[in-house]
Amino acid sequence: MTVRICPSVLNADQNHLASEIERVAGFADFIHLDIMDDKFVPNFTYSFEQTRQIVMESVLPIDLHLMVEQADRWGPKYASLKPEGVFSVTIHYEATKDVAGTIDLIKAEGVRCGVAIKPSTPVEVLKGLLTKLDMVLVMTVEPGFGGQSFMGEMMTKVKDLSSWISAEGLSQTWLQVDGGIALSTIEEASACGADTFVAGSAVYKSDNPAEIVAELRKRAIEARR
Ligand code: DX5
Ligand code: ZN
Repeated sequence: MTVRICPSVLNADQNHLASEIERVAGFADFIHLDIMDDKFVPNFTYSFEQTRQIVMESVLPIDLHLMVEQADRWGPKYASLKPEGVFSVTIHYEATKDVAGTIDLIKAEGVRCGVAIKPSTPVEVLKGLLTKLDMVLVMTVEPGFGGQSFMGEMMTKVKDLSSWISAEGLSQTWLQVDGGIALSTIEEASACGADTFVAGSAVYKSDNPAEIVAELRKRAIEARR
């Protein structure tokens, strides 16, 4: 069973992102980059052009999490950054009008496509999309900010998705959790079926981010046994 650890640089040193990313190279699988537009969520991170620069300078492939309105328009545009180093693009279900069509457009750029749901969105909206998707993302905090507490009550969604993915034999569909993932919470999320873990403050508030990434992976693997 494969576990993927994706440090989020939302709370890393924004003036030295390339070197912040280098601190976890060799330990992390991907860098999770949070794109916020100050509309879908009450926070702003990077413009498209700033994102392009960060992606180009990153030594690790990028897992993009778009917390923006008009995901049908922006999803494929961000996916076009594949040559620069975007590995996957995750859009929010709540920000789409034509989620199925947008998934197709994102995948047509050659990147993996994920769909995320906010804590208030029922997990059933993802059920009919699973065969089209490369990843589902269950938010375990209200999107917008790092450093919030893990919402354990979201684990029923993770369990449901995990059983649907297994029942349909979709071994290439990854199950990601994002928000409050730390040494104290990763085991629960892993035991419920998550296999791809975003961790922001747990990694970058530490003096030794690489060591935390390694320990997160160890705990996630052990919890699966
Ligand atoms: C929150 C973002 C997360 C954030 C996670 O909206 O999507 O990726 O960086 O940060 P932590 O791990 O601190 O909760
Ligand atoms: Zn995120």
